[in-house]
Amino acid sequence: MLVSHADESHEGTRRDFLYYATGGAGVVAAGAAIWPLADQMNPSADVHALSSIRVDVSGVEPGTQLTVKWLGRPVLIRRRTEEEIAAARDVDVASLPDPLARNANVIEGAEAIDANRALDESGEWLVQMGVCTHLGCVPIGDAGDFGGWFCPCHGSHYDTAGRIRKGPAPENLPVPPARFEGDGTLVLG
Ligand code: FES
Repeated sequence: MLVSHADESHEGTRRDFLYYATGGAGVVAAGAAIWPLADQMNPSADVHALSSIRVDVSGVEPGTQLTVKWLGRPVLIRRRTEEEIAAARDVDVASLPDPLARNANVIEGAEAIDANRALDESGEWLVQMGVCTHLGCVPIGDAGDFGGWFCPCHGSHYDTAGRIRKGPAPENLPVPPARFEGDGTLVLG
């Protein structure tokens, strides 16, 4: 399957390039055609299992991110800086519009502390769907009032943990099933 992704740096430059991943292409196409919108945000576990992709993240520098396509939708893979992690952790969960982690890798209903959003213990890696929870636009990285992502469609601001902080989006950006496999390989699904 051909997958495109983009690499964004803090300086605002953007490099687009292509890489190839295997597996799941037929399932993705068949499933995407029949999913209602609500289900596209949270594909079922059996669809996940059949649609895993592997992403080489070994070249991702702190402060940059990849955008890969998975199940027909963008997934944002960010390697966060110490500052981004600190900002994400210095937030009172009680003040968040959406108090839930929305992370497929932790127990359902877990609170939206940064540790429940990040993929690894150090908090360096944040993996989330690049689909605004308002009406589905793709948020822009390194943008918005909270230094995370900004959705220009109707002005939703997400913080450096992908949590909605301001604007009409009702929920944090969902974290898909993801895990590391060895050094530098991320498995989605
Ligand atoms: S779709 Fe993102 S703010 Fe409306």
